[in-house]
Amino acid sequence: MTVDLSVSWLGMTMPNPLYNASGVMCRSVEELERVRLSAAGAVITKSCTLDPREGNPEPRYASTPLGSINSMGLPNAGYRYYFDYARRYPHHAGKPLFLSLSGLSLEDNLTMLEALAVEQLPCLPEINLSCPNVPGKPQLAYDFAATAIALAEISRAWHGPFGVKLPPYFDPVHFVEMAHVLGGYAGLRFITCINSIGNGLVIDVERESTVIRPKQGLGGLGGDYVLPTALANVREFARLLPEKHVIGCGGIRSGKEAFMHILAGATAVQVGTCLHEEGEGAFERILGELTDIMRAKGYHRLEDFRGRLKVC
Ligand code: DHB
Repeated sequence: MTVDLSVSWLGMTMPNPLYNASGVMCRSVEELERVRLSAAGAVITKSCTLDPREGNPEPRYASTPLGSINSMGLPNAGYRYYFDYARRYPHHAGKPLFLSLSGLSLEDNLTMLEALAVEQLPCLPEINLSCPNVPGKPQLAYDFAATAIALAEISRAWHGPFGVKLPPYFDPVHFVEMAHVLGGYAGLRFITCINSIGNGLVIDVERESTVIRPKQGLGGLGGDYVLPTALANVREFARLLPEKHVIGCGGIRSGKEAFMHILAGATAVQVGTCLHEEGEGAFERILGELTDIMRAKGYHRLEDFRGRLKVC
């Protein structure tokens, strides 16, 4: 039985729904090229700022039995570096390029979007409203009024389609309130759910110590810890905003979790912690596992089950 994993959305076609989560394997051209040349269906860059940043002091990432904790602090080469990559990117070779933007202020995001608008590069901005790791900077998307102001300004500066990366929400009232804000902006075409669960604390009992150094050990959680929260956010935003696309991110480490995200309503899915641990071979493995699950269930295409999660 033939299985077709392709995804057509926003006027483009990806060979399959899998790509890297921003932050993993996407800080340098060498890393970005590893993703592009892998089995991934798209590529996204590291969240960038106006100027290059070193990020937080090490150790700032730790692998744990259930996933990962990080407080990288936005180490990146500055937006010009990623725009330069986008200029040279083979856009017509079939793997879309997403640019993750994470200005330290709304003005910085507007500056980057205005520069992108001048260039007319055929890539999609994913505006990060949820970085938990810059000391003193709260996650913008936990402030609903500030998010509405940011989206209004962004919509003035950028007339093409764009997306936002959201933090996880944990209450139905917040899903509804954020969906109401997001629904007001026609240019906002996709929402990526979820960023890491911010400000967790992992403790090493032997050393009686935190496992990362910045922010007294607090950091964003990824991996198995976050899968049910990610699925809840994907399902709720897909249900509340049927006219937008939801990109699933959180806890995908095999074809099974990719299937779950798509069943919950995800158009495409991003891999973070697992990609960091395993390397780009993870894409081919996960796609093979997803294909096997679909074949066993008799599904030919992702549309055969996308968003069709039943309530028992
Ligand atoms: C970083 C972490 C994030 O979760 C994010 O969305 C952006 C940046 C970081 O620490 O570099």
